[in-house]
Amino acid sequence: MNNTFGRTVTLTLFGESHGPEIGCVIDGLRPGLRVDEEAIAYRLSLRRPAGGIGTARIEPDPFRIVSGVYQGRTTGTPLCILIPNTQARSADYVNLSSTPRPGHADYTGRVKYKGYADPRGGGHFSGRLTAPLVAAGAIILAALAERGVRIGTHVARCGAIADRPFGDLAADLTALDDAAFPALDAAQAEAMRAAILAAAQDGDSVGGVLETAVIGLPAGLGAPWFDTAEGLLAHALFSIPAIKGVEFGDGFALAAMRGSQANDAFRMEGSRIVTETNHNGGINGGITNGMPLLFRTAVKPTPSIAAPQKSVNLSTGTDTVIQIGGRHDPCIVPRASVVQDSVTALVLLDLLEDGDGQILRRAQNDNAGTGRDTCSTV
Ligand SMILES: Cc1cc2nc3c(=O)[nH]c(=O)nc-3n(C[C@H](O)[C@H](O)[C@H](O)COP(=O)(O)O)c2cc1C
Repeated sequence: MNNTFGRTVTLTLFGESHGPEIGCVIDGLRPGLRVDEEAIAYRLSLRRPAGGIGTARIEPDPFRIVSGVYQGRTTGTPLCILIPNTQARSADYVNLSSTPRPGHADYTGRVKYKGYADPRGGGHFSGRLTAPLVAAGAIILAALAERGVRIGTHVARCGAIADRPFGDLAADLTALDDAAFPALDAAQAEAMRAAILAAAQDGDSVGGVLETAVIGLPAGLGAPWFDTAEGLLAHALFSIPAIKGVEFGDGFALAAMRGSQANDAFRMEGSRIVTETNHNGGINGGITNGMPLLFRTAVKPTPSIAAPQKSVNLSTGTDTVIQIGGRHDPCIVPRASVVQDSVTALVLLDLLEDGDGQILRRAQNDNAGTGRDTCSTV
């Protein structure tokens, strides 16, 4: 379905940037999961523009959970989160109704929805809809944490500025949990901020790369061919507006390696099977191998820039020049990091909860004490 993702744990997203409310419905959550509204508010604050480098539209996101939670725990029935839009300024978009913004979804949205879609603020295509994704993500991340699974994303690159690579993953993920700007190196974070401000001053925007690490994941999630762990993650990651590339492990760099460099040698660590390196990002044959999951996304520069751009007038069928006003992020990358955590969490909880996960858990129980599979990869 167009606006629903997942099989066992599903998320349906709805709303428009300038409509009264946006929100989501999560279905398939186990009953009894703790729902911490402060944690949701905190994750939403990480998505909010901050430090003078984001859009001037700052939404306070006073979310409401209107179903699926009773006395601070999930009931197991559909959980609906609503977030009002309080800071919309639709007049900024009047001249855009007939002139599509290059790089944005104004033209394709008009074609798909035959001119009936709400164009204000990008309508249903707006990055604003990532707020309910993040609210849902806070609940799902907590459910994963109860199972020992942790997720974190840093800005690996912003424009020409690179962050340091992941090192001690547990420590890095803890640092990212509290980071005002999601970079591992404070000096590089400052340089990134400066690059974003410089682009904004030029009436322009910058893109970057987001890198995610997941630890504590068992081996055995995902399936070959059409439901690979990479495929399901890529599907969800590409739903984040402005993401244009995804690579797992060393990704495209693997193409230039020899097999002897690209292969991750196995070894025993106590009773666990581990790999000495992780060039494959924790996935072999579409199935998690118990090593940390590592992947990167390419985030394009924000399409709405102040500089004049060529476009067309859809009413007259003539070429024109568009000058975009309104409030826009000169860089999406830092705000999208918590969104990336959230969609990753959704995919992984769905994988852990679906039939494949049940088979995995059953196999582990069946094998307990039988001597089979004595090497644990979990
Ligand atoms: C958190 C977030 C904030 C965004 N803010 C803006 C914005 O202020 N202005 C803009 O033009 N695009 C913004 N975008 C990106 C557009 O929504 C996106 O480029 C557009 O929908 C077209 O989709 P595509 O880039 O995936 O093709 C944002 C995206 C995200 C994830």
